[in-house]
Amino acid sequence: MIVDILTLFPEMFEGPLGASILGRALEKGLLSVRVTNIRDYAEGRHKVTDDCPYGGGTGMVMKPEPVYAAIDDAVERSAARPWIVLMTPQGEVFSQAIAWDLARRVHLVFVCGHYEGFDERIRLGVDQEISIGDYVLTGGEIPALVVIDAVCRLVPGVLGDDMSAVQDSFAQGLLEGPQYTRPREFRGMEVPEVLLSGDHEKVRLWRRKEALRRTLIRRRDLLDGMALSDEDRRLLAEVRGETTT
Ligand code: ADE
Repeated sequence: MIVDILTLFPEMFEGPLGASILGRALEKGLLSVRVTNIRDYAEGRHKVTDDCPYGGGTGMVMKPEPVYAAIDDAVERSAARPWIVLMTPQGEVFSQAIAWDLARRVHLVFVCGHYEGFDERIRLGVDQEISIGDYVLTGGEIPALVVIDAVCRLVPGVLGDDMSAVQDSFAQGLLEGPQYTRPREFRGMEVPEVLLSGDHEKVRLWRRKEALRRTLIRRRDLLDGMALSDEDRRLLAEVRGETTT
């Protein structure tokens, strides 16, 4: 997958993209990330990327020309037409479903807004607007990193085991149940016996049941929209008998 990031603050991407799973995916060539400074596309000696709002008011507004020029360049460099995403608190709220949808694309271009806003005409040059939640950050850089992280881990080969992305809780509409590693006892807290039993079927059922329990207690809304199997319904009935929520 090719990811283009258009930003006024390229330095914000240096650390996060080089580390951990994404860093390894870059090394393995599963991902290619290009960070482009929108300022490089601004005209004139001063390379101005923002201006005062028409009609008056406080704050600066991102100018459309350098953003369009940077988008055009990213599109021209691409063999296929890329999918262009604008990060904005006014976009559709990001979800695992949107992550899967973006992961199908070969080439994504992320446009990061900054300053107090951007010229409305920038919206017309993109395919999708995404928000990472109902709060306002200083710019679209951190939101773009959030989306890129969630999308890239779904690209085949990026996670060591491709099944982990499919099996992870949100992919199945559930929160993840509890997980444990050594030691078996820590400060008086014990690992549940069933996980030590070696009985794979029992472990599978326990995990499913605990994922259902956690979802019921913390995010009941997720269960409402889910198609539950007969087994899930039975496990959930057991959970309801055991838990007061
Ligand atoms: N830019 C500023 N806040 C944002 C948010 N919540 N989501 C996406 N882009 C943003």
